[in-house]
Amino acid sequence: MYRIAVFVSGRGSNLKAIIESQKERLNNFEIIAVVGNKSDCGALDIARQNGIETFVVAETEKDGIVSFIKLAELLEVKNVNLIVLAGFIKKIPDSFIDTFENRIINIHPALLPSFGGKGMYGMNVHRAVFESSAKVSGATVHFVDKIYDNGKIIAQRVVNIDKVNTPEEIAALVLQEEHKLLPFVISKLSENKVNLINNRVIIKD
Ligand code: GRF
Repeated sequence: MYRIAVFVSGRGSNLKAIIESQKERLNNFEIIAVVGNKSDCGALDIARQNGIETFVVAETEKDGIVSFIKLAELLEVKNVNLIVLAGFIKKIPDSFIDTFENRIINIHPALLPSFGGKGMYGMNVHRAVFESSAKVSGATVHFVDKIYDNGKIIAQRVVNIDKVNTPEEIAALVLQEEHKLLPFVISKLSENKVNLINNRVIIKD
């Protein structure tokens, strides 16, 4: 079984979509841990309700909080195959990225390489897209390297935003696609159907 850890910071709708996809489609993966950067977030509640082990991570270890160094050790011991950043807003330390090289993916609520980078998260992204007057937006799942939103793009879904009146409408349209795209990519990775060919990420049927 392919073992994943999901990192979260907010309400956890993407985490919920992954859990549902795992249950419905009997996917070849299991969520072995959910990691948050604060203990009181909706996503950690969802994990607890589903009986998934949770951790809270910070730069330094405190009561009930693990450091990234300790977390890396714990996840290695648990034989984690993949780390999924699903709305995790904290910067991941370089040493952690080294430990899990090519084993961390992120979902970004826009079509990278546009509208990414430092500070581009949550509604900031959708406001920037709205103000740009772009006609399409979408969701991107990419590998994580040491630069924000820079790693190789694995998959994208496009939404038409020709007729929207607010950034919130863009967020709602994109979120629906995120909920399909992220479980799809996890499932393909778990089936070993994601390959690097000609420096591009190719997903097999
Ligand atoms: C999603 O839009 C994700 O792409 C972004 O943060 C949001 C998290 O939403 N990075 P949720 O916590 O999964 O509901």
